Amino acid sequence: MQGDIPLREPVHSIQPEDEWRVEQGIAGAEFYLLDQTKGPGEQPRIPVSKHPITPPVEAKFDDELAKDEIPGWSGYVEWEDYPGKKKTAHDILMSHEFPPPPEFQLEPIPGTNPVLEGIRWKQWHRAIGGRLKDVPEESWKIVLEEKDPNMLHLLQFPYNGEPPKRLVTAQAITPNPLHFIRNHGGIPVIDPDSWFLRLEGLVREPKKLTLADLQDETRFPRMERLVTIQCSGTRRIEQISLYAGEGDEMINAPWAEGAIGTARYVGISLKKVIKYCGGLIDGAKHLELVGADTYFKMNEVMNYAVSVPYSKVRANEVMLVWEMNGQKLPKIHGAPIRAVVMGYIGARSVKWLYRITAMKEPTRAPVQSREYLYFNQQVGKHNQRWTDGIQIQEMPVSSAIMSPWNKQVVIHEGKISVKGWAYSGGGRWPERVEVSADGGFSWYMVPVENLSPKHKFAWRTWTMEVPCDVEGWIELVVRCWDNSLNTQPTEVRNAWNWGLHVTSSAHRVRIYSVNKSKEVTKARLEEFERRQVSFVPITRPTEFPYMTWKEYDDFFAKAGPRDIEV
Ligand code: MTE
Repeated sequence: MQGDIPLREPVHSIQPEDEWRVEQGIAGAEFYLLDQTKGPGEQPRIPVSKHPITPPVEAKFDDELAKDEIPGWSGYVEWEDYPGKKKTAHDILMSHEFPPPPEFQLEPIPGTNPVLEGIRWKQWHRAIGGRLKDVPEESWKIVLEEKDPNMLHLLQFPYNGEPPKRLVTAQAITPNPLHFIRNHGGIPVIDPDSWFLRLEGLVREPKKLTLADLQDETRFPRMERLVTIQCSGTRRIEQISLYAGEGDEMINAPWAEGAIGTARYVGISLKKVIKYCGGLIDGAKHLELVGADTYFKMNEVMNYAVSVPYSKVRANEVMLVWEMNGQKLPKIHGAPIRAVVMGYIGARSVKWLYRITAMKEPTRAPVQSREYLYFNQQVGKHNQRWTDGIQIQEMPVSSAIMSPWNKQVVIHEGKISVKGWAYSGGGRWPERVEVSADGGFSWYMVPVENLSPKHKFAWRTWTMEVPCDVEGWIELVVRCWDNSLNTQPTEVRNAWNWGLHVTSSAHRVRIYSVNKSKEVTKARLEEFERRQVSFVPITRPTEFPYMTWKEYDDFFAKAGPRDIEV
């Protein structure tokens, strides 16, 4: 009871309380399966079963199975050299039941930071035991040490985090602590003095090179480049919120626009290192890059691996780097050495790199062969074949608005200040950025002086004052044209794929425009201020009148009455 008013009367109903929410798709994860192949007639309405909470996995602590492989390489377990170990790990994983991934696509995303915890991944590590048991906690400590406290931790383990919108483009070069992180496993900590790189497979002279070898300028000339690394999951949240899918990664971090960052890297060209090994033999055309972290995929364990075509290496577009923005490469970004593959999807820029294998075909490692693929719309989760997807290599042209934010109420005087980034992969660069304040009907060009400088492999940040006369809900849209005249599809649905990768459509932000250059609006805003009443949320009815009766009468005296007598 609130005073005399009953808040809620008991209602006699046989309807489940949440029926309306289920019918409206708001409680999407609770939905009943509708199997129209079962013929006419009432179908049993079997609710989706909630997965039972499984108890924590009993660790087997088989120290021999998952032990540090090399002194000074903490958290590095070698899998690829030991098929027998991989098989045992697989058997262990198969013998447990793990909790399901959390539902956050059909249900609201948790309002916590970390947003998702990664319990499943932590339990996989526990189940294998040995050195992997403590990796989740150790990795989280490194996150807290090396990353800015402002980071949005989308997934605690394996760590996936991005800066908040207000900081993504605060500087044209992303400060290291604010650069996004996309990890598939834990963070190995490798002592630079004991690190070495194995070069093997179809190279004429297989070698092991130390960090000192790579840094010896008499052998390998230094190279410095400004490079944007973009994860193909950037802006996935738009696909999730419109059409929840699953994607082929076990947990899809709900990335927003911050899974992109730009840094100045120092290192050497991989081409020179291959040359130093006498070049490739026997028709080798691809280089497999392997990282020291452990990745779990479909109950298999492995070291993170991808490959790049040798043509990319020959073009001096693959670097081995040890410096990021004038500082030693941070542990979380792959110290002591990572690959930077310019203009490609971030997944190819392997961190904690320790092995390069020359081969004839691209690697079959899952990250290369089964993930990071771009499917046609007719391909869904249950009719997919890995061969159906286009491999995501060069990132397409894209852009994003960092301010204002979706659903924000923006007071302005006829021009809205908008800011964001624009990027194109494959060595193309943003030539023109355009912003619309009417959903994409008319476009205004960002003046060239409002764009950060051009670089072959880097984004451009921009700011813009966009003319806007109207009041109420409007849609701000940005699109970029690159130097090859590529531009972006206009709607998310035009560039849709169930794998939730590459959201490169024109970025749309719906805001509520309050145009203070209009006299009436200005007076109204002043009235809010005078009464010390909050102007937001915009949905709240205002409790004070819009005009005086005198103003009302004066108007109709001039304009004539609303109803005219015959
Ligand atoms: N390298 C290793 N060894 N392990 C990883 O999980 N993630 C890749 C790539 N290199 C990854 C890796 C992906 S998907 C991306 S987008 C980039 O690293 C992200 O680089 P960053 O975390 O330094 O920003």
